[in-house]
Formats: sequence, structure tokens, C-alpha cells
Amino acid sequence: MERIVIEGGFPLKGTITIGGAKNSAVALIPASLLADDVCTLKNVPNITDRDALFDIVKWLNCDINQNGSTIKIDPSKLKNVLISEELSVKLRASYYFMGVLLGKYKHVEIYFPGGCNIGSRPIDIHLNGFKALGAKVTKRGHKYILDADELVGNTINLKFASVGATINIMFAAVYAKGTTIIKNAAKEVEIINVMDYLNNMGAKIKGAGTDTIIIEGVEKLHGAEIEVIPDRIEAGTYILIGALLGNNLKISGIIPEHNRALLNKLTEMGVSYQLGTDYIIMNKCDSFKPVDVRTEVYPGFPTDLNQPMSVLMTQADGKCTMEETIWEKRVGHYPYLIKLGANITLEDNKATIIGKTKLIGTEINATDLRAGAALILAGLIASGKTYIYDIDYILRGYENIINKLSNVGAKIKIEKI
Ligand code: EPU
Repeated sequence: MERIVIEGGFPLKGTITIGGAKNSAVALIPASLLADDVCTLKNVPNITDRDALFDIVKWLNCDINQNGSTIKIDPSKLKNVLISEELSVKLRASYYFMGVLLGKYKHVEIYFPGGCNIGSRPIDIHLNGFKALGAKVTKRGHKYILDADELVGNTINLKFASVGATINIMFAAVYAKGTTIIKNAAKEVEIINVMDYLNNMGAKIKGAGTDTIIIEGVEKLHGAEIEVIPDRIEAGTYILIGALLGNNLKISGIIPEHNRALLNKLTEMGVSYQLGTDYIIMNKCDSFKPVDVRTEVYPGFPTDLNQPMSVLMTQADGKCTMEETIWEKRVGHYPYLIKLGANITLEDNKATIIGKTKLIGTEINATDLRAGAALILAGLIASGKTYIYDIDYILRGYENIINKLSNVGAKIKIEKI
């Protein structure tokens, strides 16, 4: 077993370079199988969710050639076979093979996906989208079977602007006959990255980044190239760390506009920063004004930064609130922040956090990816040593996090026990 050990309180100076976005990459890798020949993905983050997807791609008889963060996927020998349950439950994004294989073959058999335990995570919006395109959906045990004689474009009004459903419906609709219009589509920037990739393959998609996406079906998609956009959640996590411990800490390779909601909140808290075209410089802020945060779909405050942000709130001068509106159970980190010394009360999905509290290192457990990131933030500011267990959650989505932090002066390491 491995654990992360952090000795807190050290200032962080130097540069942290942000990798490709996890939530883009996990859609772009499966998207490659829609093409008929070799595709190239650049700036793919080195995370274990990537490796889990590679295993699935190989299972489906496609070759992968990796050179650093550049990945070539050859889908020319793709076989539409049932992905093992073991591989499917390793991550949420295995559900993207549903849209891809349904689109390409009009038939797919697939197990229910896995992923972090942050709520019930149904996939009804995905399935309703596929049904609207003409697919018959049958559930057998943990498995879904989707079949269609043909897929025909339709107007699909999503009951919630789901990121995964928007992308998955795009995947099936690229090969549907006629026009598909997705209304109340998710507007997250990762969806624009996916649209650009599919259009590079020869798809005809407009409107990603707005709430209406229009897809004209095509008969063939060819090999193409795309660069994964920078990870705005990784960037946001390090921006928060910089506000707590930065000594001219530069976070580079970012698209500042993608972090606008976070930066606006930080300004409200009294944090100043220096923004360049693709970087931000953060310095430790000595006094944070209390704020209220409510997570929203993009461009609102991202749910994926809720947990790291709540650590900053423990250092505010007064009462902050953090309300989660996207996931029912994104609260696994709170008991551990309390164990470290934070003053937090939780009512349903709304935490009231009274600062400023001194945090003291102890043994704590990551309960999901962003909870784990939050605990790293907490450990970095706590006095003494913090030991974090169940670190696999963190490595799913934060590329080289230990090295990136050590290189700027953090006392953090992975220890085998
Ligand atoms: N929902 C449904 N039915 C569906 C789909 C979603 O009820 O068919 C509900 C969910 O239960 C949730 C809400 O809609 O309450 C939002 O779900 P969404 O589909 O937008 O999320 P997702 O696509 O499963 C992606 C990211 C998440 C991120 C959310 C929101 C991936 C693999 N995951 O999830 O990332 O929180 O969008 O932005 O792209 C993370 O990175 O830590 C993470 C959890």
C-alpha cells in the first residue's frame, strides 16, 4: 500500500506547468474509434484514467502508439466486442464507448460505468438521447444492449445539461442520418475540444460551447489530430494552492478565461494575482474575506473545484458557505478536514465553514479524486505531518502531482507501507 506524506507550511516558488484536461482526454480517446484510420492526440495527461482507457482501446483491438504526451490510435482493426466488466467499472468515461460503438455499428453491448462515488450517477439522459436517435435499449443485469436498424437525427432536449450525455449523443449522432439538434446541451469547454476533434475527422457539428449543438450526420470519418486543452481543474487546484502558499508561484500553460469563475471568487476574497496570456502568478494571501459559493454548470463555479476551494475557506476570516448543486455526495473530504482542525458543519449539500482555523497534520483518507486534491491542499498548509491514504483516487486525475509540487518546494512524497 502507498500513502502520501506531506510536511506542511513551506512556501512554494517556481513554475507548475498544467497538463491536458482529464475530462477532455477521457472523451477524445474513445472518440478516436469513430474514425476509420490513425488519429493523433497531443497533450494527453499522464493519469491513470488515461491508462484505463488505453486498456479498453486495446481490448477493442486498436493499436496505441505513445510518445510522451502524444498518442496515436489506430482504429482500423476495431472489433465491436463486449468490454469486460472489470475494465468498464474502472472509470466513468467508459460510457463514451456506448455512443461511439452505437454510432459506428448501430449495436453495442456494454457494462454500467464506474467512477468516483460522488452521487448516484445515473445515465438516463444518455440513454434517452440514444433512444431519440432510434436505438432500442435493453438492460440485462449490469449490462446495457443498444440496437438500431439505423440512427436518424432528432431534436433532443436534455432534462439537465449533462456533460457526458451531451458528448455521448454527439458521438452517436455523427453517424446518424440527417440533423440532430441537442438542446440544453452542456456548455463546458471540453465539449468544444470534442467538437473540434470530430470536425477535424470530417464531422459537421456546430454550436459546442452554447446550449444548442447541431450535428449533420456523415457516412465516414477519417483520421485526424487534436490537442487536448489545458486542464482548468488542475490549474484551479494549483491556483488555490498558490493563494495559500505561493511565493511568486507561476502556473503556466493555462487558458485564464476557463478559470474565470474561480478567479472572480478569489478577487471577492481579496486575493490578488498577476495574469498573463497563458499563465498566472500567485502569492500567499494573508487574509481571506469570507464568501459564499454555489457550484453551477459552466461558466459557473465548477463542481470539480468545490472540494479544493473548501480548504481555502477554512482560512477565511469568518463564515463561508459552499453549496454543491451538481453531485449529491461531493462531501467525503469534510470529516477529514474536521479531523485536521477545521470548523465545518454540513447540512445536506451545503457546508458552513468558519475560519480561520489552524490545521494540524494527521492520518486522513481520500474518498474521491477531488476530495483527495482537497486533502493535499490541507496537508500543505497544516502544521506537522499529514498522511493521506487511498491515493489511487488522486492519481486518476492529477498528472505527476507529487513531482509538480516537490519541484516548487513542497515537502511531499509517496511512501510505501
Ligand atoms: N445526470 C443524470 N443522468 C444522466 C447524466 C447525468 O441524472 O444521464 C446527473 C448526474 O447524476 C449529476 C449531473 O447530472 O448529478 C451532472 O452530471 P454530468 O453528466 O454533467 O457529469 P458527468 O459527465 O458524469 C463530467 C465529469 C465530472 C464533472 C461533471 C460536471 C467526466 C468523466 N466527468 O461528469 O468530473 O464533475 O462532468 O462538470 O468528464 C471530476 O473530474 O472530478 C469529475 C467528477
